Amino acid sequence: MGQSSQKMKPSSFTLVCLLVLLVQSLQGQPAYKNPDVPLEQRITDLIGRMTLEEKILQLNQHWYGENLNPNNHGEKTDPITPEIGSLIFLSEEPELLTFRNDIQRRAMEKTRLGIPILFGFDVIHGMRTIYPIPLAQACAWNPALVSQAAGMAARETRLAGINWVFSPMTDIARDPRWGRVAEGFGEDPYAASAFCVATVRGYQGTNLSNPCSVAACLKHFVGYGMSEGGRDYHASDISAQSLWETYLPPFEAGVHAGAATLMSAFNDISGVPATANHYLLTEVLKQRWGHDGFVVSDWNAIAQLITQGVAKDRKEAALKSFRAGVEMDMVDRAYSDYLKELVDEGKVNIELINESVARVLRVKFRLGLFDRPYTPIVAESDGRLQPADKHLAAKLAEESMVLLKNEKGILPLSAKVSTLAVIGPLAKDQTNLLGCWSGNGKEQDVESIFDGLASEFGTRLKLPYVRGCDFDGDDESGFDAAVATARQADAVLVCLGEKKSWSGENASRSTIALPAIQEKLVARLRQAGKPIILVLSNGRPLELQRLEPMANAIVEIWQPGIAGGTPLAGILSGRVNPSGRLAITFPLTTGQIPTYYNMRASARPWGGNYQDMPTEPLYWFGHGLSYTTFTYGNAALSADKITRDQKLTVQVPVTNTGKMKGMETVFWYISDPVFSISRPVKELKYFEKKEINPGETVVFNFEIEPMRDLGYPDASGKRLLEPGSFYVRVGNQKLAFELVENFRTASVQEAGIRTHSNKD
Ligand code: NOJ
Repeated sequence: MGQSSQKMKPSSFTLVCLLVLLVQSLQGQPAYKNPDVPLEQRITDLIGRMTLEEKILQLNQHWYGENLNPNNHGEKTDPITPEIGSLIFLSEEPELLTFRNDIQRRAMEKTRLGIPILFGFDVIHGMRTIYPIPLAQACAWNPALVSQAAGMAARETRLAGINWVFSPMTDIARDPRWGRVAEGFGEDPYAASAFCVATVRGYQGTNLSNPCSVAACLKHFVGYGMSEGGRDYHASDISAQSLWETYLPPFEAGVHAGAATLMSAFNDISGVPATANHYLLTEVLKQRWGHDGFVVSDWNAIAQLITQGVAKDRKEAALKSFRAGVEMDMVDRAYSDYLKELVDEGKVNIELINESVARVLRVKFRLGLFDRPYTPIVAESDGRLQPADKHLAAKLAEESMVLLKNEKGILPLSAKVSTLAVIGPLAKDQTNLLGCWSGNGKEQDVESIFDGLASEFGTRLKLPYVRGCDFDGDDESGFDAAVATARQADAVLVCLGEKKSWSGENASRSTIALPAIQEKLVARLRQAGKPIILVLSNGRPLELQRLEPMANAIVEIWQPGIAGGTPLAGILSGRVNPSGRLAITFPLTTGQIPTYYNMRASARPWGGNYQDMPTEPLYWFGHGLSYTTFTYGNAALSADKITRDQKLTVQVPVTNTGKMKGMETVFWYISDPVFSISRPVKELKYFEKKEINPGETVVFNFEIEPMRDLGYPDASGKRLLEPGSFYVRVGNQKLAFELVENFRTASVQEAGIRTHSNKD
């Protein structure tokens, strides 16, 4: 975002602007209405004209539309004040657009100052065109595609009159019992940072005022993914060290990428609720990272400070959250009810009110809302769900699908398979493939697995279908028909998984195994003696310890959105070579949680294992098979000793030694065996995905910048760099090098965050 325009030095340019302001005010046109006046001057001019009541209304968000989210408690609609700062839409029906322009017209023309309303909506993985859930998007390891999808979603969002989306969810989540694991980018801070940045860039474009840009909202700041026991809304206990090394980095990356807003989280962080956390909201976010947009509370999060036991009533809750650095109150009306009183009592000073209002107005000005407040109404069929949107949704789905198992190369299906039995509750489902938070997506737009198979294979393959059982319950009455159909087939495709309501907000599960009825169905199908190909659609990693041994192949398709059928069918037929890799570890059992690749070393790695089950997860972060083989040649370092100011390049040649063209993602990790803080055994620092033809060798590079890639934060967020030995790991190779310096520990506060590309 154009933050440089605010740091204007007095210059002849400023003097000219002041002159323009003077002339305009003499002519009666307020400076804030003039798009030629610099941003900060428009803000100052407007604030100078506002009453305290008008200012406070800018700090509030009310809702409009039918409440479709059972977790957002409230009346069906909320009465609207046109002076309000923002409205959150709870549904996106076409008639809301007419309403939106009407209320905007009231705001612009019937209020004293004509301040436009900011319209927000939960766009999480698409508006009308629904893309794979964010967790799946991360498994594609393709930030460019993720960015394009966000850009397309922004365009559809603007058509609906919405300028502000409540995503990306930037929470690191390592407990798959937590339903919101579906909404984030997995377990690794570097990967989550890369996809957060890609999403922000897609939404906001090069300039927020572009007609297709929307303001992003990084949420939930911070630590929500750590809710104890995976129970949504619960407290989280996070050490200052983990906060800085794990939970804050993706937010910092998103802020540096220009994210206009953030949402404060529901949880507390070791006793201090995120919504009343001055340290995080003001000292870190605003003062240290220099964020100049605003923070909105999560739904009801201000009033919930009472439940969390840090405020005795809504007035105290308003005081605590406002002082901490939450500028906008999402639907609690605590700010509209009490901020004036708090100012009158001297508990909140007017400077803080002015600064907060400036932050809200800054985002509105940057979005161009003052200058173009209305949304042209185009027919529902226009501009949405276009062929390019569907194509992108299919491409992203294709790259996000992960081939977890492929015994004896059973996939792609051989030409000998002429009948494929299609079984399971997900096979013809259109509702649940959408995933949680499906915006204005419609199930009739969803291509089912069965339809994808039918269009891929045509008459080449017979596809007898039996549902077999429901998602849960204990009705086994469909089992016999399923087994009989399987007996007639050459192979059996079993489509299992989760309903979309089993993940997302308030959707915690005590076990991540599929319900017993689905496991029993597969056990019965085994009696048919035919190869079993398991297709899984789910919003979290699953416990597969009973299912995995019964399946000859497993394809994880996640919740792919509208276009999953054809990509899956392409993988089954061999038209598509699968390239997804897990962005989150699949534990063997629920009891292994938490399990993630970048844990610290155990003090006794030879002990401490579970007595009653293996300690290794079933599939590690990064796992994913291909139909071809990639052979890694010897990796080479450009030097084996560097100083802190030198860069080090590592290269690895990767050859496609199989018969099919394919895409390989190379993951580069750093290990630091001796540091003043115990560090994870290995940390992802870079990844790259490239297509390689059979017989071709492609060289992958990783450029190590010591400050950025070898440094590590301490519990205060200060980045430290220490000389000594390091390892860079790629594939199964581990190369040693030394950082040679005279210092013991250097603080490299401004080391910078890599935002994915080596060139960034
Ligand atoms: C609560 C959720 O936690 C948040 O992610 C969402 O954006 C708001 N409700 C608004 O619906």
